[in-house]
Amino acid sequence: MNKIVTIVGARPQFIKAAVVSRALQTSGIREIIVHTGQHFDANMSDIFFTEMQIPEPDYNLEINSLNHGAMTGRMLEGIEKILLEEKPDLVLVYGDTNSTLAGALSAKKLHIKVAHVEAGLRSFNLRMPEEINRILTDRISDLLFCPTKNAVDNLKKEGYDTFDSQLFQVGDVMYDAALFYGKLSDKHSTVINDLKISKGKFILCTIHRQENTDNIDSLFSIMDALNTLNREMQVIMPIHPRTKKIIKNRGIKINFHPIDPVGYFDMIQLIKHSLFVITDSGGLQKEAYFYGKYCITVRDQTEWIELVENGYNFLTGANKEHIISAFNALMRQKPVDFSKQLYGDGKASRKIVNALKRSLSYD
Ligand code: UD1
Ligand code: UDP
Repeated sequence: MNKIVTIVGARPQFIKAAVVSRALQTSGIREIIVHTGQHFDANMSDIFFTEMQIPEPDYNLEINSLNHGAMTGRMLEGIEKILLEEKPDLVLVYGDTNSTLAGALSAKKLHIKVAHVEAGLRSFNLRMPEEINRILTDRISDLLFCPTKNAVDNLKKEGYDTFDSQLFQVGDVMYDAALFYGKLSDKHSTVINDLKISKGKFILCTIHRQENTDNIDSLFSIMDALNTLNREMQVIMPIHPRTKKIIKNRGIKINFHPIDPVGYFDMIQLIKHSLFVITDSGGLQKEAYFYGKYCITVRDQTEWIELVENGYNFLTGANKEHIISAFNALMRQKPVDFSKQLYGDGKASRKIVNALKRSLSYD
């Protein structure tokens, strides 16, 4: 039986791996899950494994809260040891975090095949740690699973047509997750009642990107904008621990009540019942679209350009005036058609597993 090792570490990777892991369970491929430990709070990690019924990780390296070099280096060492022992046929990595790069690099140096889910995304901003991670991971991957045509085109422009790797346009596994777990969320989540919020009468907001949290002017500007908006429309912010620490340490005043990070079921309800979304998250930009909500993205670029091109997503950067004008424009905006299938048909995970099976059977 073929054996693969899946590397996860951060919140969005648990969600992506959940749907692929489900598809792997009936594939005849054995999956070993390695959690690097990058995210470790119960509501940043365990809750996803429990709610989404992801198999318990076979290993947890418990590596977190370090600078990029130290974190990636220690992960590299820990993953290499596991790969030497497990001798998998392939290593599967997701997205663009330090765990992604460490997983791909450890495998490639041992001449183990690497498959990258969410390949080909680019912000064209090399100051972002994620851009560095995704470019390097793509380059050393053998199977590149792209969510969109834009992602495939990015890779072709970089010469991937001539490299010894295979490109697949499979759609977005986050869309698979939204379809599958969306139904369970309706059944199980009570968050709207628990928080005593009114459906359609709040803005859902998340902020965690290093470019926003570690630049104090940007963080001040975003929080200032949210304070202004909160006077008109309630802001609900499940707050990432990174952001929480910095707001506290820098004494930034906010007039809305952040809540602890929530599990995926609650998050889906919050998105579905929000008026719209303000975020710097990658995943949330698309989820807003999946649930028919506009999104204001407080970044200067996005990897998900089709959302901007189709008028669902508005880039404001961390600029207070731009955020407020985007809010005012959205308050006047008429509902539009969100039914275009920008991210595939909800069968990305099945397509990925089929391609993995084909690839492993040729070895
Ligand atoms: C990481 C990813 C980012 C992704 C995000 C998803 C990298 C370079 N960045 O950013 O691409 O969008 O995850 O959420 O890999 N912390 C806790 N508890 C936790 C997790 C984090 O307290 O459960 C604190 C740690 O002290 C840490 C800080 O948050 O120092 C930042 O965590 P880290 O994993 O380095 O980066 P993220 O901002 O989470
Ligand atoms: N998310 C969640 N609970 C929260 C905040 C986010 O379940 O409190 C989900 C969100 O819906 C999305 C994923 O986590 O599916 C995105 O993670 P994040 O924004 O941390 O990372 P990014 O996508 O920017 O890498």
